[in-house]
Amino acid sequence: MLLKSLLLFLLFQFCTCRDTIRWNEQQLKDVDGEVLVSKENNFELGFFSPGVSSHRYVGIWYSQSKISAKTVVWIANRDSPINDTSGVLKMNRYGELALYAYNMENIPIWSTNASQSVQNTDTLNRYVQLLDTGNLVVFRDGRNGSLILWQSFDYPTDTLIPGMKSGLNWKKGLDWHLTSWKSQDDPGKGDYAFRVDPNHNATPQYFVYKGFTKYWRVDAGPWPNFVSNANEMYITLPYKSNAISILKLKDSGLFQHLLWNGADHQWVEMWSSPKYPCDWYGHCGANSKCSPDNINLFECECIPGYEPKSVDGWNRRDGIDGCVSKRVRVSKCRNGEGFVKVARVKDPDTSNVARLRTSMSAKECEQECLKNCSCTAYMSITLERVANCLTWYDDLMDMLVYTGAGRDLYVRVDKISLAEARNSQGFFRSGKVLIPILTALVALLLIIILSVWLLKKKRKTRDYLDAEELEETKRHPELQFFDLNTLIAATDNFSDANKLGQGGFGSVYKGELPNEQKVAIKRLSRTSRQGIEEFKNEVALIARLQHRNLVKLLGCCIKGEERILVLEYMPHKSLDSFLFDNTRRSLLNWEKRFEIINGVARGVLYLHRDSRLRIIHRDLKTSNVLLDAKLDPKISDFGMARIFQGDQLLEKTNRVVGTYGYMSPEYAVFGRFSTKSDVFSFGIILLEIVSGKRNNGSYEMHYSINLIGHVWQLWVEDKVLEIVDSSLLEIYQLDEALRCIQVGLLCVQEDLKDRPAMSAVVFMLSGETSLPSPKQPAFVFRTSSSIVDDPFIPNESYSSNSLTITNMEAR
Ligand SMILES: *[C@@H]1O[C@H](CO)[C@@H](O)[C@H](O)[C@H]1NC(C)=O
Ligand SMILES: *[C@@H]1O[C@H](CO)[C@@H](O)[C@H](O)[C@H]1NC(C)=O
Ligand SMILES: *[C@@H]1O[C@H](CO)[C@@H](O)[C@H](O)[C@H]1NC(C)=O
Ligand SMILES: *[C@@H]1O[C@H](CO)[C@@H](O)[C@H](O)[C@H]1NC(C)=O
Repeated sequence: MLLKSLLLFLLFQFCTCRDTIRWNEQQLKDVDGEVLVSKENNFELGFFSPGVSSHRYVGIWYSQSKISAKTVVWIANRDSPINDTSGVLKMNRYGELALYAYNMENIPIWSTNASQSVQNTDTLNRYVQLLDTGNLVVFRDGRNGSLILWQSFDYPTDTLIPGMKSGLNWKKGLDWHLTSWKSQDDPGKGDYAFRVDPNHNATPQYFVYKGFTKYWRVDAGPWPNFVSNANEMYITLPYKSNAISILKLKDSGLFQHLLWNGADHQWVEMWSSPKYPCDWYGHCGANSKCSPDNINLFECECIPGYEPKSVDGWNRRDGIDGCVSKRVRVSKCRNGEGFVKVARVKDPDTSNVARLRTSMSAKECEQECLKNCSCTAYMSITLERVANCLTWYDDLMDMLVYTGAGRDLYVRVDKISLAEARNSQGFFRSGKVLIPILTALVALLLIIILSVWLLKKKRKTRDYLDAEELEETKRHPELQFFDLNTLIAATDNFSDANKLGQGGFGSVYKGELPNEQKVAIKRLSRTSRQGIEEFKNEVALIARLQHRNLVKLLGCCIKGEERILVLEYMPHKSLDSFLFDNTRRSLLNWEKRFEIINGVARGVLYLHRDSRLRIIHRDLKTSNVLLDAKLDPKISDFGMARIFQGDQLLEKTNRVVGTYGYMSPEYAVFGRFSTKSDVFSFGIILLEIVSGKRNNGSYEMHYSINLIGHVWQLWVEDKVLEIVDSSLLEIYQLDEALRCIQVGLLCVQEDLKDRPAMSAVVFMLSGETSLPSPKQPAFVFRTSSSIVDDPFIPNESYSSNSLTITNMEAR
């Protein structure tokens, strides 16, 4: 106590600002314009007027040195404004922090209500302090140290800052929820609230309510920082030293995740909701799903076995009335009923109408739902490797179709809908048509087998097109042979100003064709050993490869020594320009990253298997993944490996230092390549996307190991999620991230036989299979950073045998 007083005394000697108010001293008066400042100058507390209002409020805001735009995060008297500057904040004789105005003898306008069990001696030992977390705390000094009597974090306004909680504490009877302001000028309690519904029978859900009605429902699935135990249940934002982010419920009901951009002195919205029609709770009514991608038509669609309740409404594109069972007279109870899958949806609302049963397989879950006639749907959910069963007993509300994420729902339908669903899957079960269909199928099968055999035979002997096929390809309107002069004009004579980049195979320029089409023009370095006919042939072959995750080859130009390729133009450049850029990386949220990972995987799979030419890319890296206008990934340079001859490629890549980090050990050291070396490179790309770090970048904490080594170490220590990019601010799907990291580790295993094929990778990423445990990856340890410059690494640094890892538990 004495020491503390002494410290406080000393502090006052050196700092004109203070962070504490004690009993019967040091009042904070509005007329004095004084503020409390937390120790490290993170937050300030004082009187202010919001917007154009002249009313006075006591609030906490980020101090100017941290956040230059005044951002009030908490308000004491939000519903009791003071109409002049007579406000005084002080500890009163009951040991409460209280706000007085107009007349000091009156009852306080606002107080902390911490007066329980006041004793005279006790009051003396109370003080209020503004902490560096932004929390205003009433303490009582005691023999056992300081006791928290009250804290502002327990009474959020409209903003959640790191360290605050939003949820419930049953033990202390606290309800941490956000309430919007009335308007930008009035911080009084507005219409909207963000709070949790603990929903003990099923799963907790977070909602934005407008009054008592549901306005927006947070996507189910655990948030990364969701905590639930016997006493409390809450979400929270973690402290980050390098980024300040907050959650805010605006007066319009918009729930925002904001990130402070210090360079531009403004808050940047990471995401917000509800924004699109499908976001609003119940936009499509009951028993229907909302498809955001369907916006040009009508976004609402009844789930199988249901039809619009109001056909009129449906015709007007108003889905609010939702859908009802198709045939009320056909019972769905022990009458041949069954389940039809609705793929990849946001779980229907579980409040009051659902039940969660833990440790129950999908099959048991189906039976559980089937045996209770009021069960309308079920979903099998795997959490932490345990299958759980979620069943619904009423109308299904607020379903949204996701393309990437989402879970499969099984809806109970009557026998007629069940038969319809099966038919639409292409299996005619009727006896009458069975025989002709079977005969046709067998014939078809024979034809397919024959053609596959023929094709294979053909492919064995050649990998190129015959003259006729080549002619056909050339006639194909999408492949063009360009005139050199056209391309010189398009690129302003290959000027540096138009140069987009340079790689092992040559330089790429931005160009505009006479028809104003923007294209990327790749001028190959003059080392191709191919003759003109071979080159043409090769280009024609590659131009035939078409996949949404491959950059499209539009044509080529051959003149003298010049070999030029004309490609689709990608406005957003390459993935690395986002991933490793401090400001642009925040544009890639988790959803987008997961889509990119899946897109790249599908593109590589197409090259390896789906296309008729097996192509091994051999130079997969983030700078060869381009992003289109929607930030969807497209692999570039995929035909290069064929255009250039084998060993020469290796020679090329040696000079590109950045590529080193992506090469598999057998390729880097022995020059051996296979589809499995592409799988290795894909694994690196995947881990880079998840972590936002370069594999060959340096690490402050672990400078002796690279990214793979770092991921592996965390994996062994069972805390691998620490690698997830901190710029995602913990907003990501836990299970997806974990799955991605595990797949990444499987891809970078030392022995190529252990690495999965690309088809397996795509399947694993879909989450429809359990994953094997990865073995220790290649290149875990690096003796010095100089290796980065030398792709031909001495043996000891890629085989990690010289170092032992203890505690290599398989997960
Ligand atoms: C401010 O409010 C008090 C209490 O309601 C009232 O007595 C006083 O007249 C008001 N003053 C002004 C300037 O409106
Ligand atoms: C203080 O607590 C009492 C009893 O719990 C409650 O009625 C009152 O509204 C509270 N006052 C404030 C300002 O929160
Ligand atoms: C102080 O701590 C002791 C031992 O933990 C406990 O018995 C006692 O009740 C505490 N006193 C106060 C005032 O909290
Ligand atoms: C069916 O489930 C509902 C909801 O859980 C329950 O109230 C009802 O008793 C169950 N019926 C039977 C027959 O088990």
